[in-house]
Amino acid sequence: MDAIRIRGGRPLRGCVRVSGAKNAALPILCTTLLSAGESLLRNVPGLRDINTLAALLRFLGRKTEVGKGTVRVFEEADPCRPEAPYELVKQMRASVLVLGPLVARFGRAKVSLPGGCAIGARPIDQHLKGLEAMGAAIELDRGYVIVKGPGGQGRLHGADFCFDLVTVTGTENLMMAAVLAKGRTTLLNCAREPEVEELACVLNKMGANVQGAGTSQIRIEGVDELQPFDHAIVADRIEAGTFMVAAAATGGDVLIERAPMEHLEGFISKLRKAGCDVAREGEGVRVSRAGSLVAVDATTAPYPGFPTDMQAQFMVLMCLANGRSAVTETIFENRFMHVSELARMGANIDVRGNTAFVHGVSNLTGACVMATDLRASASLVIAGLVATEYDTDIRRVYHLDRGYERIEEKLAGLGADVKRVKDAPG
Ligand code: EPZ
Repeated sequence: MDAIRIRGGRPLRGCVRVSGAKNAALPILCTTLLSAGESLLRNVPGLRDINTLAALLRFLGRKTEVGKGTVRVFEEADPCRPEAPYELVKQMRASVLVLGPLVARFGRAKVSLPGGCAIGARPIDQHLKGLEAMGAAIELDRGYVIVKGPGGQGRLHGADFCFDLVTVTGTENLMMAAVLAKGRTTLLNCAREPEVEELACVLNKMGANVQGAGTSQIRIEGVDELQPFDHAIVADRIEAGTFMVAAAATGGDVLIERAPMEHLEGFISKLRKAGCDVAREGEGVRVSRAGSLVAVDATTAPYPGFPTDMQAQFMVLMCLANGRSAVTETIFENRFMHVSELARMGANIDVRGNTAFVHGVSNLTGACVMATDLRASASLVIAGLVATEYDTDIRRVYHLDRGYERIEEKLAGLGADVKRVKDAPG
């Protein structure tokens, strides 16, 4: 199994380019189930999760070619076997995003329930309630959810549906279900993430009629048929945010090319309050820090609030700040797995309920640490870049590979001493 070894203490300097957004690519790849013909996705990041979804699309009868920065999908078997097996879904929760398109296009679907993950129970009740509102019958059977359109395989109908809570993939799944439904659907209390807007943009390119994405109310007029698409994915705001924190934490000066600054306002305002300089430069954002870091409180919230996917990385920054900060996680019930690993590196954090009180320390020390989930592993990489005295070995980096394309190469390009090593088993 691989590990990443970092010799920290060097300020990052130079330019780094952000890849395409994982959380936009995944739902958009699922839209290929909504039409016949050949679709092409560009600027796709080279990630484990993309390969997992490609494997699922092949299982569903799509010829799927993953190239350098592209994924080409075309329908081979029709009707496809609308079933997503446990073996594939267990590798990646986002596989549940095939549910809406399969029911919309084929009138039925059997999808393994994704189950929980390291950061929380993550139920899909809102996805299912929305499909029920559109006329679907839902059955749970030995870990699978079986969804059938009206009359067993009929076309969904439009409906008004209000989410009990804001859910990103829930919004995306119901958008993909509603585009081929009979009549109008109005979704209320929707997620407003840029990835939801990106999905709506592709659906409309395919001939759908989706209005209001990016707001809490989305209206969809169902159509009879959709066309394939050719689309380039938006840049990854979370990867960009991760490099911003790495630059700030190491006291460096980095230009993050293609960083979507407009998608990171809720986060950038905290970086600035913490004493970092953040400025747009051409198509990118330059982040630097001359003075010492100031402790700043942060509470995660749905977009445009402070992103939960930046919470762990931001916590590392607060480990180095003067004073005490309170970092509160409101989206996932178990997203502080990185705290005990950071403590192994000398961080001083105490967790009470869903708030971590971070007491700034003068430095972190290299150690062997374990990645537990995607964003926690990114926070350990940043801690390793800052840590001195000893190297940091981050184990189970397969978590990192799910969401960061060639991260050690990109960091080395900024002057970091980082490499991938074969790790001792266990
Ligand atoms: C998306 O997950 C992202 N994943 C996550 O990014 C991100 O952390 C999350 O949104 C929040 O921004 C993708 O886009 C593939 P939610 P999602 O449904 O859609 C509860 C990363 O690091 N909930 O918005 O699964 C749920 O348990 C990943 O890239 C229900 O109770 O998250 C959570 O507490 C991690 N019932 C909250 O809502 C439901 O039916 C928000 O979850 C659905 C969700």
